[in-house]
Amino acid sequence: MKFGYFDDRNREYVITQPDTPLPWINYLGCQAYFGIISNTAGGYSFYRDARLRRLTRYRYNNAPFDFGGRYVYLRDRESGQFWSPSWQPTRRELKDYSCRHGMGYTVIGSTANGIEAHTRYFVPLDENLEVWQLTVTNRRAAKAQISTFSSIEFCLWDAQDDATNFQRNFNTGQVEVEEGVIYHKTEYRERRDHFAYFACSEPLAGFDTQRDAFLGRYRGWDSPAAVEAGQLTNSIAHGWAPIGAHQVNLDLQPGETRQIVFLLGYHENPVDRKFDPPGSQTINKSLVKPTIAKYLDPLNADAAFERLRKYWDSLLGIFQVDTPDIHTNRMVNIWNAYQCMATFNMSRSASFYESGIGRGLGFRDSNQDLLGFVHMAPARARERILDLAATQLPTGGAYHQYQPLTKRGNNDIGSGFNDDPHWLIVGVSAYLKETGDWSILDEPVPYDNQPGSEQPLYEHLRRSFSYTLDRLGPHGLPLIGRADWNDCLNLNCFSDTPGQSFQTTTNKDGKVAESVFIAGLFVHAGRELAAIASRRGLGAEASHYIGETEKMLAVIREHGWDGEWFLRAYDDFGAKIGSKECEEGKIFIESNGFCVLAGIGLEDGTALKAMNATGEHLATKHGIVVQQPAYSRYYLNLGEISSYPPGYKENAGIFCHVNPWVMIAETRLGRGDRAHDYYSRINPSAREEIGELHRCEPYVYAQMIAGKDAPTFGEAKNSWLTGTAAWNYYAIAQWILGIRTTLDGLEIAPVIPRSWPGFTATRVFRGVTYKISIERHGEGNRIALTVDGNPIEGNIVAPPADGRKEVTIKGILS
Ligand code: BGC
Ligand code: NOJ
Repeated sequence: MKFGYFDDRNREYVITQPDTPLPWINYLGCQAYFGIISNTAGGYSFYRDARLRRLTRYRYNNAPFDFGGRYVYLRDRESGQFWSPSWQPTRRELKDYSCRHGMGYTVIGSTANGIEAHTRYFVPLDENLEVWQLTVTNRRAAKAQISTFSSIEFCLWDAQDDATNFQRNFNTGQVEVEEGVIYHKTEYRERRDHFAYFACSEPLAGFDTQRDAFLGRYRGWDSPAAVEAGQLTNSIAHGWAPIGAHQVNLDLQPGETRQIVFLLGYHENPVDRKFDPPGSQTINKSLVKPTIAKYLDPLNADAAFERLRKYWDSLLGIFQVDTPDIHTNRMVNIWNAYQCMATFNMSRSASFYESGIGRGLGFRDSNQDLLGFVHMAPARARERILDLAATQLPTGGAYHQYQPLTKRGNNDIGSGFNDDPHWLIVGVSAYLKETGDWSILDEPVPYDNQPGSEQPLYEHLRRSFSYTLDRLGPHGLPLIGRADWNDCLNLNCFSDTPGQSFQTTTNKDGKVAESVFIAGLFVHAGRELAAIASRRGLGAEASHYIGETEKMLAVIREHGWDGEWFLRAYDDFGAKIGSKECEEGKIFIESNGFCVLAGIGLEDGTALKAMNATGEHLATKHGIVVQQPAYSRYYLNLGEISSYPPGYKENAGIFCHVNPWVMIAETRLGRGDRAHDYYSRINPSAREEIGELHRCEPYVYAQMIAGKDAPTFGEAKNSWLTGTAAWNYYAIAQWILGIRTTLDGLEIAPVIPRSWPGFTATRVFRGVTYKISIERHGEGNRIALTVDGNPIEGNIVAPPADGRKEVTIKGILS
């Protein structure tokens, strides 16, 4: 069953039923000010850091799931009836409810009691504020007297503290109200130089800033006393829970439409200009007032919205495809690219499943995210790479995460994940291939953010590589450390204590347990680094990298191959994991997918065997599970993995992040049918019809789909912030459609289904627009290319020597 439909022309998903199985959300903002908004207007806003600069309060894991947000109420002054056009929080019956989630904006509206109302929410580019444009239309035959109310609940900035430290926080809340603008200034009098504001374009019939005055005693957001009474109380918050609510009374003729603009924003004043008059305790508003005035004008708000649309048009325009498969088209052209920008901006910090107070930006995660967005935001990718590298440790190792506001690494969620450093090589390589900007390698970058420790970025890559060489185990495979990609394979953490974190506790010395997955990643990263070194004229160094990867290949062949597939690891006792000898967990996706992705075993048939075994043992109709058989009991020596019930998360769930490794591996074997079939099984658009089972949004990937061992096989969880976005985008764009960036130019190497007659694409690459058309003349993957009508040798199209800005590529597959 479906809960809406794709409007591809407008790049929107239109939800037509408010009670979706889970809140279906969208992101507002793409630079510094961000918001999360659900299909019923739930969610919250923050500036840069979801933990430390939270503007609005949100209560997680609520019942109902999603409660608290950017709610608007309408009240009929004649009948006294009131309702919310977004369904929540009043949940009154509505006609024509719709929520249009678009690129950086959301429009939610409906009709009730003959009054149509829609609110468009978005964040203008280059501003630290969100605009709510509420339009109210009288569809009755008679005049209507309607009061409108806005509402938000302020968070006292640090969302973690806000949710826990009540003995202090119930005393600190402060606001100012001036010319109808509500200013939230908790802690402004002391060490903060920032405040929030909530403004309204129309003359107010009232306002409230104290939650209890607005809601009334023992009442919730579904029936605020002041809304029910039809009159806000002009309350001023002193401590407790500051909120913002405006009341505007409208008299509407039949057919008449009125628009009200609300602004919620964040502003920082220079420390020496905080107060006006100086020496007082009153906020200096002179610097923010022009911005408020500008966006309260609906014409300016409209212009900002048009600018936002153009921004997304141009970002998405960098890569557009037309294939025979609508699900491929809309994910590549719209939603997957869009999700890649969200994962870039948020990493894994703020969604409805990541609280925004737990995780910062992950080192491993953010490097992989680069694969999905580097073509859309190369300058920001550059900055991200340099930020990440600056948190790297002198050993080449990495903090597992850093906070975006401070840009400092921390050990809060553990460290010593031995795969981490290699992802920096993968990320930098993707950047170089996309941009050709070799200067990044010469940028001086500190270690652990310590001034004086700066070395060229290139040196950081060297250390990433040697980090593994310094940490080889008894078989010569890389030591796994805290964990590798699979955060839950904690072979050095034996925990029998409830509540102990598998990510931060270590009780083994880490000198035995080894990872075949890291071995594959090491080979992959080593080859990438060798290619970079040789283009920098460092031939001997390149040979060293190749030499080391060759040695590792030999070790993998000897100790990493199980006969039919690649092993996964050796545990702290030197016993095999992911082997036919194991009782459970005999075969794993990560080592098989990544080794073959890295090209390991293509020459001797082991790659083919590994992919056949993966297909046979791990692939299901809903995607490929992590391992089989699922762990049916708790294995002390394996860590968190077997703490999950069978079929969920890392214990044999369908971890969508790693499915694309198998898709890419299949393209390396030339099997386009299988690659695209795997792609389609987890493609959210292709799963739209089974929305009741899938439950998450049909327009973005979820981290996990419950595996075949789970009672809820096929049910997705943890949508939005997952490496799934970047890897699926990369797999379909660069390996299945085969439009691949290389250090030397654009490679065209499609491995598409045999039934496809071809496809066309537009790709902007290093400032040149490539118009690509592929035609299938035979069943294979051999490609013959003409560039502007001239046949070329090979399949890499070098940037045009004569400065042309448009190039036509035709490819014949046979
Ligand atoms: C989850 C992993 C996640 C880790 C982060 C675990 O509980 O299963 O997917 O990466 O926590 O700390
Ligand atoms: C989610 C984490 O963000 C990611 O870093 C990890 O690789 C996967 N879980 C698998 O454990």
